[in-house]
Amino acid sequence: MADRDFDIVLFGATGFTGQLTADYLARHAPPGLRWALAGRNRGKLEAVRDKLGLPYLQLLSADAGDPASLSDVARRARVVITTVGPYLQYGAPLVAACAEAGTDYVDLTGEPEFVDRMYLQHHETAVRTGARLVHACGFDSIPHDLGAYYTVQQLPADAEITLRGVVRSGGMASGGTIHSALGQFSRARQMKTAYADRRRKQGKPADGRSSRAVSGKPHRDPVLGYWLLPLPTIDPIVVARSGAALAPYGPKFRYSHYAGTKTLRYAAGGAALVTTLAAAARVKPVRNFLLGKVAAGDGPDEAKRAKSWFTVDFVGEGGGNTVRTRVKGGDPGYTETSMMLAESALCLAFDDNPTTAGRVTTARAMGDNLLARAGRWPDLRDPLTKRSSAPDGGRDAAGVRIWPDIDQASVFRGPGPGRTHDGTPESIDEGHLIGSPPPRLGLRGVSRKILMGDSWCPGQESNLRPFA
Ligand SMILES: NC(=O)c1ccc[n+]([C@@H]2O[C@H](COP(=O)([O-])OP(=O)(O)OC[C@H]3O[C@@H](n4cnc5c(N)ncnc54)[C@H](OP(=O)(O)O)[C@@H]3O)[C@@H](O)[C@H]2O)c1
Repeated sequence: MADRDFDIVLFGATGFTGQLTADYLARHAPPGLRWALAGRNRGKLEAVRDKLGLPYLQLLSADAGDPASLSDVARRARVVITTVGPYLQYGAPLVAACAEAGTDYVDLTGEPEFVDRMYLQHHETAVRTGARLVHACGFDSIPHDLGAYYTVQQLPADAEITLRGVVRSGGMASGGTIHSALGQFSRARQMKTAYADRRRKQGKPADGRSSRAVSGKPHRDPVLGYWLLPLPTIDPIVVARSGAALAPYGPKFRYSHYAGTKTLRYAAGGAALVTTLAAAARVKPVRNFLLGKVAAGDGPDEAKRAKSWFTVDFVGEGGGNTVRTRVKGGDPGYTETSMMLAESALCLAFDDNPTTAGRVTTARAMGDNLLARAGRWPDLRDPLTKRSSAPDGGRDAAGVRIWPDIDQASVFRGPGPGRTHDGTPESIDEGHLIGSPPPRLGLRGVSRKILMGDSWCPGQESNLRPFA
């Protein structure tokens, strides 16, 4: 692709996450990176460029509703980053343009229906042209996908593996994220149909292995000590796809995904809030009312982001061993997300990745290279290879350090009883939620906090204060 004008084009550079991504690229671009900003509003793009202090940066005019402008962007770039969402509303024409032009593509979608539809419509074209279509390159789903990728490699090769991931976070959502989530909540039926169609078309792994996301049930985790609620986000779908594509996940891989909280009260409150919001989003006037409360382009300021955090704990069991790992970081939705997105694009542009094409997950497309970028960050692997045996025959814990502002790897030294979790294999579409009266929150607080899951954060009463 030496003939392309740019290594990377960032589409949506004027939005909340787009500006953070531009800022990350400006600060971390390798020398000589040829990159450009794209968007529909020239004045706004110039303002972003001025803020970056990079007057030479080229600006490309592109509108999600103008396929010719998107084709032009796709043909001139080696990798296109897009933060133009909701993706169900705006995303498809750019995926089509990149698939057709053989251009690598990364986005931030957390909308399963969009990902399934793009597979159905553009995977074959992308395989033909060599384009790598990598969705969900932010908090959805890199910590989960790479964390799972890393954890299964700590278990014996060829073992059947059961893995669970438990997310906890404290942070707030941007307007764009809330618009995307409400849009997807309102389309449960269409999401199910796209999921079934995609699974039918995709089929099972050719090598006879089996990989599935399973929903599990609400329960108290005997290893981690948290109350767990099944979390039917896009993440378990992505992890299961990586499991289907990659042999280290073993002959039979089962992944379940949960929100974790230290007390049952928060688990119940969180579940009730999500159920209520998901139901409300299906009623058009209510959805429009909620959308009217949060402006696109809006998001948590730097001070709020600095206080935000996330952890994802993994417990993997296979071949008689139990391994625990943790991915952790700061503000999941924006600071870390913009870093993950930009690093994914840089990884596709410059690293020697496995040969892939079509719709591929982050672990499949970039696995070790993206982990290495995440842990430039030297001692990522060492503590893991040196772990000791736990008394019950399980393995002591391992730490995964993902993004650079994490000070040190988290190494657990728990008893690790090595029990299997209680999940009954079921479709992830049918997550069980438990109910109780929701905590009292202001409307904006409810929607933002539910979407970021922080009403489930244990011992954080302050998280449940109404949004000011
Ligand atoms: N999964 C994750 O981890 C994660 C995290 C963060 C964000 N996200 C997702 O990322 C997306 C962006 O979020 P955000 O908060 O940054 O949104 P935002 O601030 O509302 O930004 C949206 C961007 O899209 C642009 N845009 C809208 N319509 C367009 C059109 N017709 N043509 C060209 N550009 C158009 C906007 O341009 P103008 O400035 O010209 O309006 C703006 O640059 C959302 O879908 C959100 O869900 C996901």
